Amino acid sequence: MAKPKVYVTRMICDNGIKMLKDQGYDVKINPLDRVLTRKELLKNVKGIDALLCLLTDKIDGEIMDAAGKNLKIVANFAVGFDNLDLEAAKKRGIMATNTPQGSTEAVAEHAMGLLLASARRIVEADKFTRANKYKGWKPFLFIGEDVHDKTLGIIGLGRIGFAVAARALCFGLKIVYHDVVRNPEFEAKFGGKFMETSDLLKQSDFVTLHVPLMPSTRHLIGKKELALMKKSAYLINTSRGPVIDEKALVAALKKKQIAGAAIDVYEFEPKLSPGLAKLSNIILTPHIASATIETRRKMSEIAAQNIIETLSGKTPVHSLHK
Ligand code: DGY
Repeated sequence: MAKPKVYVTRMICDNGIKMLKDQGYDVKINPLDRVLTRKELLKNVKGIDALLCLLTDKIDGEIMDAAGKNLKIVANFAVGFDNLDLEAAKKRGIMATNTPQGSTEAVAEHAMGLLLASARRIVEADKFTRANKYKGWKPFLFIGEDVHDKTLGIIGLGRIGFAVAARALCFGLKIVYHDVVRNPEFEAKFGGKFMETSDLLKQSDFVTLHVPLMPSTRHLIGKKELALMKKSAYLINTSRGPVIDEKALVAALKKKQIAGAAIDVYEFEPKLSPGLAKLSNIILTPHIASATIETRRKMSEIAAQNIIETLSGKTPVHSLHK
């Protein structure tokens, strides 16, 4: 019997690759350190049984058809899956999976890092010190804000929102949250108070976003929502860029309508909206919230496991099909 063919759209940690090779699969990896063009992707998927892809690959019906009738799974190397056309996969009987759990703690750590760096002006202060501008201690040098006793609004209480709350509690933050469903377990454990998004925006000193990108969450935070936030508040985004209307964010930060923002993801990734990089009241990181070696290894293992389970006729634990 022919070996199942697996195509990996970009080099990932070798532990997952080894798992696939140990199964005797014929594993091919894009050798280039860049996203494949559409044309290259269409060509490379021909005849494969499994596709291990990244959030930078748009996988739709055309790619699935180019792969052909053997394609059984599209395994996304990310927790977010807005790059996959799930309907197209379902229609063709193709499994689709993601890598939840893999990145929960790392993303929560990064969100907290952005929150702390915003409140305590760490990035600005670092630039200042490197530029040899520090000429001695001053009572008001880089005056920031306390984090303890402030209110953190968490929008989206999935695994990552939960993990952020656990950390925030240790920093003495009070927690309010919004999700499509109330979570009594969370309320009991963290003292988190459920509220509608508009109330959360009005009451929070820090707002952190942890929703998946879906039609209902695109531009969840726009002009109207930014206007509800406190003038002293900070907005943190480690979810997906289009959850924020970036043009509206630039305008709000320019007017100092909110104190600041710290974002890891962009509406037109990897492009930044005009004016974003010129603002001094925003911290920008290049979609690295999950970028720790331990997390990348876990993601590699989970993606490989999803493929192995599917190719051995099982329903993988991380199936995205409802
Ligand atoms: C994810 O997993 O969706 C992150 O955005 C990238 O690891």
